[in-house]
Formats: sequence, structure tokens, C-alpha cells
Amino acid sequence: MASATRGCLVILFIISLALLSPAQGQVCTQEDEQALLDFKAQLRCNKINDPTNNACPFDSWVEGTDCCQWNGVNCDSSSQQGVIGIQLNGSISLGKRTSFQITRVPNSGNFGASLVQLPLLNLELTFVDVNANLPREWGSISTLKTLVIRGGRIFGDIPTAYGGLVNLESFVIENAAFGVPVPARSPSGTAGIPKELCKLTELVTFHLELLNLGGTIPDCIGRWSSLQEFVVRNGGGDRDFSGRDPSSSIPNAAGLTGGLPAGLFRLTSLTSIDLNTNRLTGSLPSSIGRLINLESLNLGNNRFFGQLPGDVGDLMNLQFLYLNGNHFSQQLSSSLGKKLKALVELDLGSNNFSGPIPEAVLNILTLEVLRLDDNGFTGKLPKGNLPGSRSVSNLRLNVSLNYISGPLDPRLLPPNTQDLYVCCQHSKLARTGIPSSISVLTSLVTLDLHDNQLGGTIPTSFGQLPDLDRVDLSYNNLMGQIPPAIRALGDRANLKGNPLLRR
Ligand SMILES: *[C@@H]1O[C@H](CO)[C@@H](O)[C@H](O)[C@H]1NC(C)=O
Ligand SMILES: *[C@@H]1O[C@H](CO)[C@@H](O)[C@H](O)[C@H]1NC(C)=O
Ligand SMILES: *[C@@H]1O[C@H](CO)[C@@H](O)[C@H](O)[C@H]1NC(C)=O
Repeated sequence: MASATRGCLVILFIISLALLSPAQGQVCTQEDEQALLDFKAQLRCNKINDPTNNACPFDSWVEGTDCCQWNGVNCDSSSQQGVIGIQLNGSISLGKRTSFQITRVPNSGNFGASLVQLPLLNLELTFVDVNANLPREWGSISTLKTLVIRGGRIFGDIPTAYGGLVNLESFVIENAAFGVPVPARSPSGTAGIPKELCKLTELVTFHLELLNLGGTIPDCIGRWSSLQEFVVRNGGGDRDFSGRDPSSSIPNAAGLTGGLPAGLFRLTSLTSIDLNTNRLTGSLPSSIGRLINLESLNLGNNRFFGQLPGDVGDLMNLQFLYLNGNHFSQQLSSSLGKKLKALVELDLGSNNFSGPIPEAVLNILTLEVLRLDDNGFTGKLPKGNLPGSRSVSNLRLNVSLNYISGPLDPRLLPPNTQDLYVCCQHSKLARTGIPSSISVLTSLVTLDLHDNQLGGTIPTSFGQLPDLDRVDLSYNNLMGQIPPAIRALGDRANLKGNPLLRR
């Protein structure tokens, strides 16, 4: 008992020694310090709102002090390698206000060139306004595992010298971060993803946002066998049901060209592909079905065409599928809905799909967003109320601008429908009125049936929908009284263009 206590004390003593004594090798070398000071000299920290605050990371970067203690600098304590990490955050927000900004000093030499002398594993610049091309010199920091620049206004091609970053695991350039304006000098790159980068076989994350690269994706990326995230997107901002990726956030957007190389479909570790807003073309090969770990696939706003291979249905882990804004055509395979049991958002809007909407698609029980609008779908809306337990979230469904024919039967729609957009069918829902069974959709918030030549009266059963908030029934042939529940919506009920309605 006593010896056990003594043993514990000895261990505690050793632990506290380890914690208290300054770790060997933590002290910065003269060379490392100079490299960092040269880097600092290329940047300026502007204090914006509060000139007295002491929050600028560079305030601690003082010559003659141990650089391992400087804000944003990490040293290696175990093997005495020196400075192995720089993580600079160029913006600290106090409340809603930004208190300072780090910007590059113009004409201060090749940006970041001095950093090549450091055995860096990690280089992360957040909200440092670099406003320049990626430094070619960094290609020789072969130790680098993480290279991240967020909100830095980077433009130009990726230097071919980056083929030397053979240990790189994360390559992230996010120009759109924190609302930093996109580079004014776009379009920039023309060389696409340089073939030299295929040597980076340790890559897990390849994420370029609003870099506006032109050129093609080389087939040799098939060597990135650890890759989980492949993102080269030029659409900015977050997407939601109503606000899609803007098709082009960059003036004169360049965008990747050519097709998806076969090599891409060998990367079976991929969980996410996002190539939104490029100029990619060709059809989607059946080998897409091999990427069984995919959770998110975004090919929106490109120039893909042809039939969607049924093999997409093999992507059982897929939660987000965005193919909107392309030229995909022909019928949807019913296997799509049968096997995609995890799908949360499906956007096939603004394509050239035709034929009926498969029942299986409307009955994916996890679905929260389904956009099939602006296509050539025909026939009635299929039954969407097959038994099973539905997502706890509601469904937002947009099938506007197709050739869907009436009558609309709310009793057959998914019972958790929250938003229902069936406006302006080229075929018109015509002559069929709005059935009073609309009241079965008890989660309904938004209903858009405008421009469909709908006749008859507006059912009073709208009064049974507790969450109803917005109704567009404009440009139909509705007649009779406006029921109180609709009248109560005021401006949120659009009834224009129904000359026979009594106000
Ligand atoms: C950097 O600063 C931004 C803006 O203040 C903040 O949102 C972000 O979380 C910070 N990032 C890191 C890594 O500290
Ligand atoms: C629904 O689809 C129509 C036609 O493509 C589009 O104009 C509208 O913005 C979409 N609305 C929502 C909320 O998705
Ligand atoms: C749409 O698809 C049909 C075949 O389903 C094809 O004939 C037509 O050319 C396509 N239109 C466009 C604009 O791609």
C-alpha cells in the first residue's frame, strides 16, 4: 500500500519534471529566426478598429526572442528539428468587428521565399491577404504535409514545382473564405492540374475553391490512392434549397475543361467530389459505381450530357447528389431510388431529362430536398407515399417547369412534404382544380402552383394547414371566394391573374 503510494509519487514527480523543464530543442536557431523575420517583413498587420489592441500575431515576433514562443509558430520538441509549423490567422474578430488584417507588402520580393529554409510540416495562412500567385519556391519544402490558404486571394496556375511536395496530405486553397473578394485578375490558370502533382501520392484532401483554374484534369490523378476529398469548384457560397451555387461567381470564369479522366474512378477512398461550376463535359461513365465510399457528388453547372448510368445507384453511402445545370438527358433509371438509401439532397434541376419520374426516387425515405425542375419529365407525379419510415425532416420538392400532367392528388404525395413547387408545367395541370385533400399535407409551408390553367375554386381546407406561409396560385383560372386562410396570408399569397376570383 505504502510502496504503491510512493510509486505514484515518483511517477507524478517525473511527469511534473517533464512538464516544467524547458524541452530541449525548443529554442529557435538563428537561421530559423531570420527566415521568419524575412517572412514577417513581407507582411503588414493593419489594426483596424482598435489601434491599441495587442492582438496582432506579429506583435510577438520580436528579434532576439525565442521564435518558438512566437504567436502562430510551432517548433519540434522531440527531434529538435526547429520550426515545423506556421499557423497564422490574419483576422481576429472582436464581436462583429475585425480588429486587424494581414496584407502582403507590395514589391517585397518573392512571397514566402524565405520559408523554404524551414523543415515545415504545416503551413496554414487564414485571412492573410496574399493577393498573388502561389509561390513556386514552396515546391522545395518536401517535408510539408499540410498547405492551407484560406481567404488569401490566390490566383494563377499551380506551380509545376509542387510535384516536389511528395509528403503533402492536405492541399487547400479557399479563396472564398470569410467573404474575401475573389481575385480581380481572374481568369487566371490555364494549365489545369499539372501532371507533376500526380506524384503527391499521400494526398487525402485536394480542395481548390474559386481559384478559377482552366485546363484539364490529368488521368494520372489515379495515383492519389488515399484521396478522400477532391474539390475544384468555382461556385461560391453555401447552397440551400432556394439559393443554389451561383453559376459563376467569377467574372470571366475559366473553369476546368475536358472530361472526367478514367483515373478519377480508381480513387475508391473518395468520400467527396465537388467540381461545381467548371466547363467539364462528356458523359458520366458507369465506373462511377465503383466509388462506393462517396457521400457527396457535386457536378453541378458543367456541360455533362448523356444518360445517367444506373450505376449511380450503387453509391449506397451517397447523401448529396447535385447534377443540376448540365445537359443530362433520357430517362432516369428506377434503380437510382431503389438503392440510394442514404440520400438527403438530390438536385437534377435544369437538365434535359425526360420520361416519367420513377416512383422509387420520390420514395427515398431520407430525402429532404428533391429538385427535378426545369427538365422534360412527363406523366403524372408518381406515388410518393409508399410505406416506410421517413426522414424526421420534411421534404422540399420542386418539379416546376416540366410536362407533368394533372390532376394533382395530395393524398399520393410524400406525407412530409413541406415545400411543393409544381408551377408552370409546359403541359399545364389544366382544368383540374386544387383538391380539398390538400389538407392531408399537414407539414405544408409553401405551395407554388402558378401558371397551370387550374380551374375551380380555392378549397377552404387550406385552413387546416397550421404552418402554411406562402402560396402562389397566380395566372390560373381560379374562381369564387378567396378562403379566409388564404386571405390571412396577405402579401404571401399571390393570386394575380385569376380574373374570376372574387376579392
Ligand atoms: C481565424 O479567424 C477567423 C475570423 O476571425 C475565424 O472565423 C477562424 O475560426 C479563425 N481560424 C483559426 C484557425 O483560428
Ligand atoms: C423551383 O424551380 C423553378 C424552375 O426551375 C425555379 O425557377 C425556382 O427558383 C425553384 N424554386 C425553388 C425554391 O427551388
Ligand atoms: C434533349 O434530349 C433529347 C433526347 O432525349 C435530344 O433529342 C435533344 O437534342 C436534347 N436537347 C438538348 C438541348 O440537349
